[in-house]
Amino acid sequence: MNRTLIKDACEGKGAGEEILVQGWVRTRRDSRTFSFLEINDGTCLRNIQAIVDRPRHAEVSPATTGSSVSVTGKLVPSRGRGQAFEIVVDTLEIVGGADATYPLQKKGHSPEYLREIAHLRPRSNLFGSVFRVRSRLALAIHRFFEERGFHHIHTPIITSSDCEGAGELFRVTAGGSRETNGREFFGQPAYLTVSGQLAAEAFACALSKVYTFGPTFRAENSNTSRHASEFWMLEPEMAFCDLQGNMTMAEDCIKYLLGDLMDRCPDELDLFNRFVDKKLVERIRFVIERSFRHISHGEAVRLLLQSGRRFEHPVEQGMNLRSEHERYLTEEYFRQPVTVHDYPRGIKPFYMRVNDDGETVAAMDVLVPGIGEIVGGSQREERRDILLERLREQGLDPEHYRWYLDLRQYGTVPHSGFGLGFERLIMFATGISNIRDVIPFARTPGSAEF
Ligand code: 4AD
Ligand code: MG
Repeated sequence: MNRTLIKDACEGKGAGEEILVQGWVRTRRDSRTFSFLEINDGTCLRNIQAIVDRPRHAEVSPATTGSSVSVTGKLVPSRGRGQAFEIVVDTLEIVGGADATYPLQKKGHSPEYLREIAHLRPRSNLFGSVFRVRSRLALAIHRFFEERGFHHIHTPIITSSDCEGAGELFRVTAGGSRETNGREFFGQPAYLTVSGQLAAEAFACALSKVYTFGPTFRAENSNTSRHASEFWMLEPEMAFCDLQGNMTMAEDCIKYLLGDLMDRCPDELDLFNRFVDKKLVERIRFVIERSFRHISHGEAVRLLLQSGRRFEHPVEQGMNLRSEHERYLTEEYFRQPVTVHDYPRGIKPFYMRVNDDGETVAAMDVLVPGIGEIVGGSQREERRDILLERLREQGLDPEHYRWYLDLRQYGTVPHSGFGLGFERLIMFATGISNIRDVIPFARTPGSAEF
């Protein structure tokens, strides 16, 4: 017999027929006449109820919480409350038992505790839902770009350039030692990528619209709830596109992804709305419906100065916005997503296009309530001479960026792109407040367990 997924069984697929379901026992309740097994296979939030006649108690009793089972029986409309369909069990096989030490006996464990058993937490309602949402969002990303004529580029994970110029690199060496036979394994120092952008630019300058979506690594020593050492980034890159087009694409993309989630993961969103953040669905709707506010960096600083707020990091013109400033703007002042654009050139990486004022660059950050920065992007400097000047200004060796300069020497075009922090998007979409809880096995300073 073919296995029926519990998500299908809960919808009544195969009703009236004998079906096979397989999964893990969430709970078992024994009454005088029946045993009720709640079985979950992770294909959806819901469990299927399986009913076994009480005389078969000996057969049922090893089906303890956490054990894996294979059940056949007739799928019938449920007479009980809480589920539309249930299974009247014919055969019950215990595939793998679980004794009383199984850590997920009860509901209502804290996320902190569950983090310590990250290998088992996907079996909880909360984390099962988080990772189904993560999967759905990843799929929606591919759909969004496919529908708009983009191609997916697999940019390298091992690179020799520090795209963001912040020096937050993990070095890659062979055999755990710095050198191999006195030589660098790759002939030069190599690192885990902090961003696929530079490679994506080369492909945008050939395939016009591309995106890369994969893991990125940063050795920032900031142990916050929004930073991970390994995280995923979505990076679209578009030829013949200016900052305005870039900002619109970022906004459309975020709205599409959230809208898709509302359509495809209603049960999960309902769970988050009840147990994580009671304003979640309202906030997601609001974000989908409203246009993002746009404000220049200069205006943002003026608003912060006028706020009368005492920030931990004092505000002054020309400064980089810190998380507390970003959150003031999006959470308190505007109370909606805000796109901040045109930052001072001195605080942004070499690749951002210098504006006509000579002072600012065509950068943009999207800030959202509860998270702060979710997107960072820019129009890229397509003029070779100015790019050279910017490299030198930032103390970078133009020789090392020769291929990147070539893109400006042969058929250069205005082009733009952005990076969307995938985990930050998941946090925004679920209300989960710690990045460690939206990553299957999180890597953060001091922690690479599992
Ligand atoms: O603003 P960032 O540093 O931009 C870039 O890397 C550009 N090269 C992207 C591009 O234009 N193609 O990072 C982009 C986003 C941030 O807005 C944030 O959402 C996320 O990546 N991010 C992190 N997420 C989790 N942990 C970290 N340590 C992160 N650092 C950045
Ligand atoms: Mg940024």
